Amino acid sequence: MLTTRPRGTEDIIAPEADVWQAVEELARTLSHRYGYEEIRTPLFEHTELYARSVGETSDIVSKEMYTFTDRGGRSLTLRPEGTAGVVRAFLENRLYARPLPVKLYYLGPMFRFARPQAGRLRQFHQFGVELLGAGEAAADAEVISLAMEFYRHLGLEELTLRLNSVGCPACRPAYREVLLAYLEPRQHSLCADCLARYARNPLRVFDCKEEGCRQVLAEAPLVTAYLCPECSAHLAAVRDALRLLAIPYEDDPYLVRGLDYYTKTAFEVIVPGIGAQSAIGGGGRYDGLVEAFGGPHTPAVGFATGLERVLLALGVRGKTLAPPAGRKVFVAAADAAGAAAGVELLARLRRAGFTADRDYLGRSLKAQMKHADRWGATITVILGEAELGRGTVTVRHMQSGEQEAVPFAQVVEALKEHLAR
Ligand code: HAM
Repeated sequence: MLTTRPRGTEDIIAPEADVWQAVEELARTLSHRYGYEEIRTPLFEHTELYARSVGETSDIVSKEMYTFTDRGGRSLTLRPEGTAGVVRAFLENRLYARPLPVKLYYLGPMFRFARPQAGRLRQFHQFGVELLGAGEAAADAEVISLAMEFYRHLGLEELTLRLNSVGCPACRPAYREVLLAYLEPRQHSLCADCLARYARNPLRVFDCKEEGCRQVLAEAPLVTAYLCPECSAHLAAVRDALRLLAIPYEDDPYLVRGLDYYTKTAFEVIVPGIGAQSAIGGGGRYDGLVEAFGGPHTPAVGFATGLERVLLALGVRGKTLAPPAGRKVFVAAADAAGAAAGVELLARLRRAGFTADRDYLGRSLKAQMKHADRWGATITVILGEAELGRGTVTVRHMQSGEQEAVPFAQVVEALKEHLAR
């Protein structure tokens, strides 16, 4: 136990952590470019927040939440997703009084208790964006475009964008009745889960992966055929906007998404070859959520992608991000005088922006050189009493093995020149 992490969690350690940093940096850069600002919400919220937004009948709320009672007797839940917390913060901090739309992004861990498998963890990480206060289809297209740009920059191609509309409170009740009437005589073919939830939220059946349920649904009436004029027009406008942006998509009338807050647009991005958990990202519109929490009418749309799945997809394609440019300098000492001068040089190098290090184990010069090599130094600077007496140090280029004498006072400038090349 003491040396085993909880199931479904991961330690992220270099060099993998370097890839994480690169992916996160891209997420931040792109978000800023699109006019999104960062929001950091708590890792836990009141349990009710998720029950009332993600939905009681969703898998997330009904069986995947990390819910606990704190010492004050309150029911809290580790966030299973980011949208609910952002909407809560939008209201609590009166962000609706700011110029609309309010555009926010977040990066961080989420928690869901599901059976771990490739691409499915209990603690995973999302990059997400939320655009609050705009109802136009162009806003949906912007969110989708940011998502696709993110994947494109990472070199992930062969992605499929699946698009659907799940309707709104004006058209969904009528569709719900039609779907219920269709499912009723077929109840015996549904799995136990679907049977339990179909009466409360029949749309959830579309989310089921069981073969029996899928067969039942093959002939089911589809929500797109029952959209009200406003939802139909919106879906058409999103399609037009995507065409304008040259973003390919596939209509998927079976796509309902696993969260209850969606209205109108729902979309998912699928990547082949990473196993059963092939949805690398997803999102949609949630025009009623802010109001349902007691706020002003605020149409909104957002998206989130799972970073573990992004990394999995990168690995599958053999595309790893380039490691940070090599500017690693090791400062080696041949004797005590060299070690003393090395302390000063090390500080100068770090101040100048180099990744620089030295020996702390009293190693011999030979052992220091071996260590510098294993550490991945591009250059090792060797300092010794005799050379320092002449005012110079030895600069060794680790790859070629070439060495040169450089004046001690000019080492930083000389290395800047070398490593710029
Ligand atoms: P979601 O589809 O539940 O949507 O999750 C988004 C992404 O998070 C998934 O596509 C997947 O990449 C990743 N993900 C989800 N669960 C796991 C897991 N157990 N392990 C690893 N990765 C996972 C949402 O969370 C919505 N809040 C998205 C959204 C934002 N909609 C509007 N705004």
